[in-house]
Amino acid sequence: MLTTGPRGTKDILPDSSGHWQYVEKIIREVCHNFAYQEIRTPVFEHTELFLRGIGDTTDIVEKEMYTFTDRAKRSITLRPENTASAVRSYLENKLYSGPQPTKLFYIGPMFRYDRPQAGRYRQFHQFGIEAIGAEGPAIDAEVISLAVAFLNKLGLSDLKLLINSVGCPQCRPVYRAKLQEFFQDKRAHLCSDCQSRYDRNPMRILDCKNETCAKYSQGAPHMLDCLCEECGSHFAGLQELLTAAGISFVINPRLVRGLDYYTKTAFEIQYSPLGAQSAVCGGGRYDGLIAECGGQPTPGIGFAIGIERVLLALEKQALLPSINTAIDVFVAPLGTEARAVAFQLLTELRYAGIAADMDFMNRSLKAQMKYANKYPAKFVALIGEDELAAQKVMVKNMDTGSQELIARTALVPMILEEMEK
Ligand code: HAM
Repeated sequence: MLTTGPRGTKDILPDSSGHWQYVEKIIREVCHNFAYQEIRTPVFEHTELFLRGIGDTTDIVEKEMYTFTDRAKRSITLRPENTASAVRSYLENKLYSGPQPTKLFYIGPMFRYDRPQAGRYRQFHQFGIEAIGAEGPAIDAEVISLAVAFLNKLGLSDLKLLINSVGCPQCRPVYRAKLQEFFQDKRAHLCSDCQSRYDRNPMRILDCKNETCAKYSQGAPHMLDCLCEECGSHFAGLQELLTAAGISFVINPRLVRGLDYYTKTAFEIQYSPLGAQSAVCGGGRYDGLIAECGGQPTPGIGFAIGIERVLLALEKQALLPSINTAIDVFVAPLGTEARAVAFQLLTELRYAGIAADMDFMNRSLKAQMKYANKYPAKFVALIGEDELAAQKVMVKNMDTGSQELIARTALVPMILEEMEK
């Protein structure tokens, strides 16, 4: 237990944290381009927020939440997603009183007690955006185009954008009734989850991964055939905008997302080489969520992208950048006395903004040179007995192999000059 992390968690080690930083840098650049600003909400919230927000018939709420009672007997939940938290924060901090729409992005860990496998973890990270306050399809197109821009900027290809409309409280009851009618005589054949979904949330049957359920749901009526006029024209408007912007998409009338708050637009971006966990991005509109959380009726739309899945996709396409561990100077002392001087020089170099390191392991000169090459270091500043006595330092350029004996005080200015070249 002491040397093994909890199941479904992963350490991000130094040999891959540079990849995370790279992806996060692209996220920030793209969000800046699209005028979205960062929000950071706590990793835990009152459980009630997720019960209300995500919906108590969803898998997330029924089976996957990390919920505990704190010392003051409050029920607390580690966030399984960040849309509900963003909406809570939007209301609590009155973000609606600023210029609208409110355009937010976030990066951070989420927690779901799911069965871990490649691409599915219990602590995972999402990059997500939420655009709150605009109702027309143009903002839907913007949100989708941001996800596409991000994935394109990383160089990923073979992505498939699926879109659907899941209707609204006006048209969905009609569709629900049609679905229930369709499944009525097939009900007994469905898995136990779907049998209970039949009454509570029949649309989720369409999304079930169980083969028998998939077989029995073939030929089920489509939501798209039941959309009210408003939802129909919203969906048509979105398609027009995506087409005009050159963003290719596929309409998938069976796309039902696993969260209850969706209305109208629902979408997913899949990267099929990831196999069972091929959804890199999922999102949609949630026009009822803000009112559900106690605010004025306000429309909203967003998505979240699983960062681990993006990294897996980048790895598959050999698109991960090499991690830069290079330093400017490695200070190599020989002997105890030289070590004190080396530390003083090292401090001066670092305080001057120069990336530097030194030997802390009493290595031999040969081993220190080998070690310096591992970073790699551009220069080695050597302090042996002679250099120590003469208050000098031997500077070796590791690219050219040339050496120069200079005064200790000249080291920082010399390196600064070299860095400007
Ligand atoms: P979601 O579909 O539950 O949507 O998750 C979005 C993405 O997070 C998935 O497509 C996947 O890439 C990643 N993901 C989900 N669960 C895991 C897991 N256990 N391990 C690794 N990655 C995972 C939401 O979370 C919504 N809040 C999206 C949204 C924002 N809708 C509107 N605004």
